[in-house]
Amino acid sequence: MPALSSSSGRSADATGDRGKRCLSAAFALPFPFAGAGTMVRPMRCCLGYDLIAGNESAFAVDVSAIAFGPGVLAEIGERVRSAGCRRVGLFTDRAIARLEYRETVARSLQAAGIAAAVYDEVHVEPTDASFRAAAEFARKGRFDGYVSLGGGSVMDTCKAAALYATYPDDFYAYVNAPLGGGRPVPGPLPPHVACPTTCGTGSECTGIAVFDDLARKAKTGIASRRLRPTLALVDPTCARTLPSMVVAASGFDVLCHALESYTARSFSARPSVASPGARPMSQGRNPWSDLGALEALRLAGAYLARAVRDADDEEARSSLSWAATLAGIAFGNAGVHLPHAMAYSVAGLVRDYRCPGYPPDEPLVPHGISVVVNAPSVFGATATTSPERHLAAARALGADLRGASAADAAAVLPETLLAMMRATNVPCGLAPLGYGHEDLDALVSGAVVQTRLVDNAPILADHAALRELFREAIEYA
Ligand SMILES: [Fe+2]
Repeated sequence: MPALSSSSGRSADATGDRGKRCLSAAFALPFPFAGAGTMVRPMRCCLGYDLIAGNESAFAVDVSAIAFGPGVLAEIGERVRSAGCRRVGLFTDRAIARLEYRETVARSLQAAGIAAAVYDEVHVEPTDASFRAAAEFARKGRFDGYVSLGGGSVMDTCKAAALYATYPDDFYAYVNAPLGGGRPVPGPLPPHVACPTTCGTGSECTGIAVFDDLARKAKTGIASRRLRPTLALVDPTCARTLPSMVVAASGFDVLCHALESYTARSFSARPSVASPGARPMSQGRNPWSDLGALEALRLAGAYLARAVRDADDEEARSSLSWAATLAGIAFGNAGVHLPHAMAYSVAGLVRDYRCPGYPPDEPLVPHGISVVVNAPSVFGATATTSPERHLAAARALGADLRGASAADAAAVLPETLLAMMRATNVPCGLAPLGYGHEDLDALVSGAVVQTRLVDNAPILADHAALRELFREAIEYA
């Protein structure tokens, strides 16, 4: 039987959550755990996780069907046809429209007798305005299915367009609360075959669509299992043409998906749900997400820097594509937490930062960079909640842990991340992105409202805690 809870009253699980404690006054423990303030004895252990009376004892695994491998993109016509579609909306962006694999898709669809109307006006890092425009295209098209060919921006835009075309409503009705109404998607959506062309976002495996809310200067999104693509067609050869900084940004996004899934609060720490439909996608780490997350971390540690340095390193870029898929499945079923919550304001408040390899016409912090700049400070703060997990993650990334003990976890994982960021010329913190201490209030305000993510963290991240995390992220550069 695993250890009893710490003095916090929270249970410690057998996979490394022993000895949970507050890091400082700013980091108290979250959630109304059963018997908070009292000793709680785990009822039993399941797959290494403690189960507690009154809390969840089950986790759910929802995944897209997946086909992965070089050349698999040529299967798209037959795949779309077998999904029962005859007229699809094909979402892509203008840069992709000029590339070879765009032709591969067009030929395959044509050979299968599928009519495709192309929408190539997807905005890199979508906005509420670009989601609305895409939705209008989908509404007018009256499609019986959707294909997305591109990075996370393209796939997310396609998800949103399919949603609003199928179940029209006020734009903010489906947007995550508290910025939106958080209305559940009323029913199933038409088939969506997602074809990622970056080795990063994992959007092909998730039910999440993220956008910039221009008026509120914040990133937010729509989350529903019904947004999850029907099929992910992952052809790693698409990653051959990516600029190195795009690989770096998307690679660190992968890494953080895995790391946040692996260190999120446990699924068994949430109160039990009244019905299966009430179980959130961000259900917390669980035995399934652990599998994909750890392997994705191992692959990122072995191949991320190589994939950034050399576009011709097919082994590295293919491995990173597989890591992205694994991490997508993991975070699609566990949820991410603070680095992503903080990224929403890092990206949303951008002033004049421009990143090589991305469109130069407007300021933009690529998603993966907006996430990873927060990661060292976050994982330094969360390490005491599960030091073994933080050490295991560092080991998977390639750190030499000889002589390291649990007490070293708070230093080892952040140092490993910073070394990887330096090795790939990624900005090491918020200062290189143009943020200073005068921005702390705005950064905190944009992050604290991301309750879906903040609530999935293993520590309580209130205003004071987030301010401390951002402050450290400014300074470690
Ligand atoms: Fe992400």
